[in-house]
Amino acid sequence: MDRFQWGVATAAYQIEGAVTEDGRGPSTWDVFAHTPGRVRDGHTGDVACDHYHRWPEDVALMAGLGVDAYRFSVAWPRVQPSGSGAVNAAGLDFYDRLVDALLAAGIAPAATLYHWDLPQPLEDAGGWMNRDTAHRFAEYAAIVADRLADRVDAWMTLNEPVVVMAYGYGYGLYAPGHALLLDALPTAHHQLLAHGLGAAALRARGARRVGIANHYSPAWPASDDARAATATFDLMLNRLFTEPLLTGAYPDLTPLGGFPDGVVRDGDLPVIAAPLDFLGVNYYRPTRIGPAPADSPLPFDLVDMPDFPVTDLGWPIVPDAFGDLLRDLRATYGDALPPLVVTENGCSFPDAPDDGPRVAFLEAHIAAMRAAMADGVDVRGYFAWSLLDNFEWSEGYHPRFGLVHVDYATQQRTPKRSYAWYRDLIAAARA
Ligand code: FCB
Repeated sequence: MDRFQWGVATAAYQIEGAVTEDGRGPSTWDVFAHTPGRVRDGHTGDVACDHYHRWPEDVALMAGLGVDAYRFSVAWPRVQPSGSGAVNAAGLDFYDRLVDALLAAGIAPAATLYHWDLPQPLEDAGGWMNRDTAHRFAEYAAIVADRLADRVDAWMTLNEPVVVMAYGYGYGLYAPGHALLLDALPTAHHQLLAHGLGAAALRARGARRVGIANHYSPAWPASDDARAATATFDLMLNRLFTEPLLTGAYPDLTPLGGFPDGVVRDGDLPVIAAPLDFLGVNYYRPTRIGPAPADSPLPFDLVDMPDFPVTDLGWPIVPDAFGDLLRDLRATYGDALPPLVVTENGCSFPDAPDDGPRVAFLEAHIAAMRAAMADGVDVRGYFAWSLLDNFEWSEGYHPRFGLVHVDYATQQRTPKRSYAWYRDLIAAARA
């Protein structure tokens, strides 16, 4: 890759639909979304943006934007419906066609192997609480790489393992919906091990560039007595999933209870810490932390940030925090930090083709990134979340993150003002 890549990002369960077609098996998100009360208004990904059938139109929309790269995810339950063993050829064929169409349109494919849709049979065997899932992931990574490594430009093993741990296994707000609180910590190690084993499988099959897409949120203390709580939140959210990758060691996890004996085994950390070609950074917002209330099972409290403008989801809009995050990664990890790629950044605003607030959000965040780059942070790409309005997990179809509006009744796609603005930004960046 010789020049900065501008791109857009999506994820399989959020856009594809066609959940029972061509041999796809159930994922944790299918089961979770179909469980009453889990997703707002009972929305599911059954149809989503119908991208499984409309992908040629979506590739044409990307070509119209002029993006260099497209970050999509491969649905594990399409490729290996039971999560191990038999491969579903029709599932691989779908991504094979997509990759060829992207290349024909001059768009570099950037594939995420796991964006939260774990095959349900693996969850039935313990999911990410079970170490074996890491080995199953490596097997799946090898299958996908055997088919696509000759054409995919960049790979991300996992998307936001911290969110899977915290929301999926800790709070129970996302699939698979377990509320284990701090007992969910082993899912961190098993996902990191999956990353390491999966990365090795990708490289053994000729993958060009291998990374991971991590979620980051600068943690700010709400008050002086919140400093310890803030450090604990920062440890969980930002350091737990970065230090083992970049330094080969876990930070002191005592404030989070630490791993039970036997979770981290000899030889795991060198696998996890194999060099990355890039570190993916997903950034949306900073977080303000207060001390844990007396009866809280968690060692911190998330508090509101009413002093900032917010998106539709109430997320504070703080572009400077994005620039600071990029600079802090460089300052903290120094030469151990691989090149960064902003693998997600974006915002939700209500249904409107004239989405001025999104233009302002993207403009300010891209400016903050460029300022960090001018300060010496090596950033190689930026992927806007998202190409299309899509299924926003437990919020269903209510939030709209797309550069392109989707009418879910007709599946009509309508580019918003932000689409034209991003197209022009990309063209100007190249001029
Ligand atoms: C990130 C997820 C992505 C999307 C955005 C809004 O945490 O990776 O799938 O839902 O949030």
